[in-house]
Amino acid sequence: MKKTGFIFDLDGVIVDTAKYHYLAWKNLADELGIDFTEEDNEKFKGVSRKRCLELLLEMGNISVSQVQFDAWLEEKNEDYLKYISNMDESEILPDVTKVLGYLKEKGIPMALGSASKNAVSILEKVELMSYFDAIVDGTQVTKAKPDPEVFLIAAKKMGVEPVNCVVFEDALAGIEAANTAGMESIGIGDVKILSDADHGFNNFTEIDLGFLNDLILLLKSKN
Ligand code: BG6
Ligand code: MG
Repeated sequence: MKKTGFIFDLDGVIVDTAKYHYLAWKNLADELGIDFTEEDNEKFKGVSRKRCLELLLEMGNISVSQVQFDAWLEEKNEDYLKYISNMDESEILPDVTKVLGYLKEKGIPMALGSASKNAVSILEKVELMSYFDAIVDGTQVTKAKPDPEVFLIAAKKMGVEPVNCVVFEDALAGIEAANTAGMESIGIGDVKILSDADHGFNNFTEIDLGFLNDLILLLKSKN
């Protein structure tokens, strides 16, 4: 039986920050005269801040100097930080703590695998740092999701083989990254959008302990 590891994305999986990323990008898009919908925002989920701005500027056919590009990156982040400044435990998504608590009790290693450079500050705000044995965030990766780098580093930090890991993700790019890493993928959100995931749930309230136990057994048996 192999050692297993559970990897969680942050934004849109553990906390409902996906809506704040959307609002901050929407504000910048409005300022630049670019039409930006929630549907467009799906492509921004899981994707690094820099890549998101590149996508936005492509949508508006805008090319800019490096200085202006960096200024808009900063502006978006400042705006986002305002939205999350008062965040607390009440913004943890329903039943996330139940799942994290159960796995902790069972001694299963857990890691965060997020593209965000704000991940540690958010985990501190919502007081979830103590659950994680390893944190991999946007400050540690060179290749953004859908590249599997973030999850492969997380597996390594936990001392678990990728094939014995599972990833919880709300982003298309994240499911692709987990699948490429050879990990079991669990889509959290619209199952139609995340149809490439091995399992899909609208949210954590649909995940029962029986499912988690079966998942642990499945992961332990994989070579
Ligand atoms: C991901 C979000 O978790 O982090 C993306 O899904 C976001 O929407 C990315 O762009 C980078 O986040 P940050 O906090 O570094 O701007
Ligand atoms: Mg996410």
